[in-house]
Amino acid sequence: MNFPLIMLLIYTGRKTAAMVWEICNPSTGQSVILPKMKSRKRTGATSFFGYDPTEKQFKVLSMFITKNGISNEHQVLTLAPTGKLSVRIIECSIPHCPQSPGICINGVLYYKSSPNWSSEVDGIMCFDVRSETFRFVRVMEPFIRAVHPRATLINYNGKLASVMSTQSYNYIDEKSIGFVMYVVQDLEKQKWSKHNYELTHLREYGVAMLLFAGVTVAGEIVLLPKYPSSPFYVFYCSLERKSIRRVEIQGMGGFKQVYTFVNHVEDVKLMQTF
Ligand SMILES: *[C@@H]1O[C@H](CO)[C@@H](O)[C@H](O)[C@H]1NC(C)=O
Repeated sequence: MNFPLIMLLIYTGRKTAAMVWEICNPSTGQSVILPKMKSRKRTGATSFFGYDPTEKQFKVLSMFITKNGISNEHQVLTLAPTGKLSVRIIECSIPHCPQSPGICINGVLYYKSSPNWSSEVDGIMCFDVRSETFRFVRVMEPFIRAVHPRATLINYNGKLASVMSTQSYNYIDEKSIGFVMYVVQDLEKQKWSKHNYELTHLREYGVAMLLFAGVTVAGEIVLLPKYPSSPFYVFYCSLERKSIRRVEIQGMGGFKQVYTFVNHVEDVKLMQTF
């Protein structure tokens, strides 16, 4: 397990254990099924995948979610280079409700959070993967839209960023005039930069719903169809050149749902950019 890994939620098809998390190495096809979290309470659970570049360790942060949406019983699962798993219970002194998938940048795992189910997202939880500690950073005006419920968190050139269509959708379609991106300059000091992008070229392609999949190392935003169709296209928006490339991926005809992991390269050196 020495290569960039991805984490997948898979359906087992069994009635009792409907879903399990699996960590997979796309280079070797090796995979590890994560142990189920044990709790007597019947609540939901959520998991995030992180990488600590200092100790070169993959970790999975998991937590149960109570009825009012607040996380409890936090645990960290560490995946040793041998493939061995170890679990540690950790404390989180910040009651919060996770509200987005996580994104790990330079050893810090970020996800949007709110005080509970019934309140709006008001900031970002930052989990330091190495020290296994939590920090909450509130996001305020004029940048509160960076943590809008429909904004997608991305890694933009090594910085935490958030993207959303100009009409506040989590997708882009042929009616979209563009999207807005906020990039963190200094999270603690509430410094974000705001960028508006027009998508005039996209209209020529007559696309259906496209979701934000992430950013390539070349700084292109990757857009992926929400519902796969044939032919299957992926779009790359270059923010510097203000242009869009459309790339057809063949052999996708039979899939009902597609997940994308950007920047997977079959080379260990790229671990540094994970
Ligand atoms: C949710 O959080 C808000 C803001 O902190 C608070 O005013 C409200 O009472 C909370 N609701 C519940 C059900 O805990």
